[in-house]
Amino acid sequence: MQFTRADFPDGFRFGVATSAYQIEGHQFGGAGQTHWDSFAATPGNVVRFEDGARACDHYHRLDEDLDLIKGIGADVYRFSTSWARVMPEGTDRVNAEGLDFYDRLVDGLLERGISPALTLYHWELPQALADKGGWRNADMPDWFADYTEVVASRLGDRIWSAAPINEPWCVGWLSHFDGHHAPGLRDIRATARAMHHILVSHGRAIQVMKGLGMGNLGAVCNMEWSTPASDAPEDVAAATRYDAIYNRFFVGGLFKGEYPAEVMEGLEPYLPTGWQDDFATIQSPLDWMGVNYYTRKRIAHRPDAPWPAYQEAPTQGPLTQMDWEIHPDGLKDFLTRTAREYTGDLPIYVTENGMANPDTHNQPDTARSNYLTAHLKAVQEAVAEGAPVAGYFVWSLMDNYEWSLGYEKRFGLVHVDFETLARTPKASYHALAEWWRG
Ligand code: FCB
Repeated sequence: MQFTRADFPDGFRFGVATSAYQIEGHQFGGAGQTHWDSFAATPGNVVRFEDGARACDHYHRLDEDLDLIKGIGADVYRFSTSWARVMPEGTDRVNAEGLDFYDRLVDGLLERGISPALTLYHWELPQALADKGGWRNADMPDWFADYTEVVASRLGDRIWSAAPINEPWCVGWLSHFDGHHAPGLRDIRATARAMHHILVSHGRAIQVMKGLGMGNLGAVCNMEWSTPASDAPEDVAAATRYDAIYNRFFVGGLFKGEYPAEVMEGLEPYLPTGWQDDFATIQSPLDWMGVNYYTRKRIAHRPDAPWPAYQEAPTQGPLTQMDWEIHPDGLKDFLTRTAREYTGDLPIYVTENGMANPDTHNQPDTARSNYLTAHLKAVQEAVAEGAPVAGYFVWSLMDNYEWSLGYEKRFGLVHVDFETLARTPKASYHALAEWWRG
């Protein structure tokens, strides 16, 4: 890689990201059942019915993994706490062993000079709350606020940054409309309610953390560029609808206090009563914005379907192991658009970016290094155009449980042998370490 730290703005932070369920090993340490466990146990949802029961066994290999984060020269480690590990039934009872684990994690980072970036929810909803309707339930903001208070009271004095909910689009749309993630629903009413309750829960969590004296609080949204499959006006309109649902709904709520018209056409009849009154909570002021970016889609009109009446057109161009098109310009465009239209001077972090590539245990891992290089250049271009980008975090530190795609999609800078659990840094890890370590 042809970079040095001096090629990025002063104080720019580099980091790596993971999430609890994807690496820890959920069967250990008294964690409660989650909706991902039951989703994975149901045939048809996850490749080979794989789940996060053991994952990377990070729970027992914490020090080794923290050393890997230090070894690459990361300034920041973005991780999540698991709600079901901290509160196995979702409310009331706290699992002391679970909180102790995160306490050790945070102290271990600080001892190594790494800033802890906390995410409170990265998708493993306690089953007991899923049984009550999960994100569809209007009580979710209260439950989430209580959980936030438990975590923040214990860790908040040592956390560098915190964000409540990773990727609201995945938690809302992908999981309740597309049915691809837990709880696997395909229900427009569930979707509308979940999407709104996610934002209210976000706002409540921000208020709780602020109340406890925490600062540097943000939101993390995933964005996927959408390009019309043709110049036909129906395809252009379909791509705009896709963009509104995926990329503009959540930032619209957070920074404008409104939802895009193209989304309201479909979802308004299903939103919970009184939704208009929630924007004061949703818009609790933030200190930064996080953008997760991987790819773009080509979107076409779908004539035989009701709203949103779009479909994905065949992918083109260079693809990753996920069959995701490699399109670095989309990152530049989102960074500049987010600043211009939503967040102004607020620092923006690329909170996730990376690619899946087949097993590269003993291979050069060139594709991943090239992908990261191209996207880091896109970050530089966005900075040159005035976007206040303040950091870039790679997804992911190590190969892990890639949700419905199980363990075969390898996003790691570190290879994990899922038989022996041995960790082996890949060439891309070394390529970053060379200039991150300075
Ligand atoms: C993001 C998720 C992360 C991982 C990457 C590949 O959407 O936040 O958990 O699955 O995609």
